[in-house]
Amino acid sequence: MTTHIGLLGCGTVGAAVAEMLLTEKTLLARRSGQTLALKRILIRDRAKARSPAIPTTLYTTNPDDILNDPEIRIVVEVMGGVNPAKTFSLRALKAGKLLVTANKHLLALHGAQIFRAAAQADSCVGFEASCGGAIPIVLALTRGLVANEIQQVVGIVNGTCNYILSEMSATGKSYSVALAEAQAAGFAEPDPTLDVTGGDSAHKLAILAALAFGGQVPFGRIHVSGINHIDDMDLRFGRELGYVCKLLAIAEKHGQSISLRVHPTFIARQHLLGNVNGSFNAIAVVGHVSGQTIYYGRGAGGRPTASAVLADIVEAAMGTAPLLFKKLPLLNHRAALRILPIENVSSRHYLRMQVLDRPGMLHQITGILGQRGISLAAMVQHEARNDQYVPLVIMTHAAPDGNVVEALTKIDRLRGIRSPTRHIRVIDPPF
Ligand code: NAP
Ligand code: HSE
Repeated sequence: MTTHIGLLGCGTVGAAVAEMLLTEKTLLARRSGQTLALKRILIRDRAKARSPAIPTTLYTTNPDDILNDPEIRIVVEVMGGVNPAKTFSLRALKAGKLLVTANKHLLALHGAQIFRAAAQADSCVGFEASCGGAIPIVLALTRGLVANEIQQVVGIVNGTCNYILSEMSATGKSYSVALAEAQAAGFAEPDPTLDVTGGDSAHKLAILAALAFGGQVPFGRIHVSGINHIDDMDLRFGRELGYVCKLLAIAEKHGQSISLRVHPTFIARQHLLGNVNGSFNAIAVVGHVSGQTIYYGRGAGGRPTASAVLADIVEAAMGTAPLLFKKLPLLNHRAALRILPIENVSSRHYLRMQVLDRPGMLHQITGILGQRGISLAAMVQHEARNDQYVPLVIMTHAAPDGNVVEALTKIDRLRGIRSPTRHIRVIDPPF
């Protein structure tokens, strides 16, 4: 039996999915046993240049041509953004269609409503492509690790940021040149602010944490900071101390609560995650029985993402996706997770102050840190060259985030400090 598919969107991801459905039909049928037929593709702009592999007769600018077509069984939303993607997704489910989406932004904010609509319609939502590009991380969390109490999820989940950070470190490229290259390669979101400010990683963390810990994630409770203020000098100091900087999405269990944070993080250079470069993603998951497992692969780009979308299409066509959706509580949790605020999360911290090179400054700084129980693990200061201000780098022992932020507010008010002090959190194994 042929399963007809409608695509909402034909950009970086949509075009790669369409090309696969059209040119890899035989391979897909041989490997999955499914006969898949792409019937219609929704676009916005008919004048745009498109892939020559896709017949122009498939395009439409009218969503009804897909959402009201009874022959179309699977709707694949690869438009991005919240609206009209949300309206179209809900309409598709209400019409009894099976939904596949790569839209982490939509799921992080409105996943509960979309999943409820799918359950009411006896349908399903496939969302493997929403996190980690080609990496089957949704499969791993919902099935491979189902027997585990998950303790920690630590991921490099944004290809654009990882590309920028690794290019800046490896080749000395500027932030803006590296970002432009990531955009040209199709890694970035249409508005790359979402990537570089950490929003996209937070969307993915909301999805991964919901699956890992079995509860809804109140998106606004995720601490988010991005790489848009990263300074080259900190990457160099980090290297001197044996670290590399990665934008990490971290979810950890602390008793009955979960901490959720996205921020630039120093990781030991020899750790596996410290060696994930370019647009690659890697996600480490610690389960109480499995111990640590790590998933690695291309996290962005049309073809890697299409691989995950196609996996969802096959599961929907086979009927396993609707069955799982009905039977697996991990996909239907209702209660919200209890969140531990970042102020209470303890870690080590890298601090770089620009300090006036005069007596007594170090004494004042260490005094402020010491009053809040923050102990120093390492300190680096090179001789001043052409400036009266010298960079003073401090690596702390583990201390609660709130204490460090409070100390920095006080330090930045000292006469003799050129604020703001740069602050990068450090992550230590196990993860
Ligand atoms: P994109 O290149 O900007 O493509 C978006 C497509 O949706 C375009 O074809 C656009 O039409 C169409 N579209 C947008 N709004 C529309 C509207 N109102 N009506 C009709 N068509 C509309 O985006 P993308 O990079 O493929 O990303 C698509 C989704 O996949 C997003 O949710 C993104 O977060 C997610 N994702 C992307 C990647 C990646 O590496 N790029 C990886 C994983 C997940 P036109 O072509 O006519 O403009
Ligand atoms: N903009 C996203 C990234 C696409 O760079 O990771 C993949 O989700």
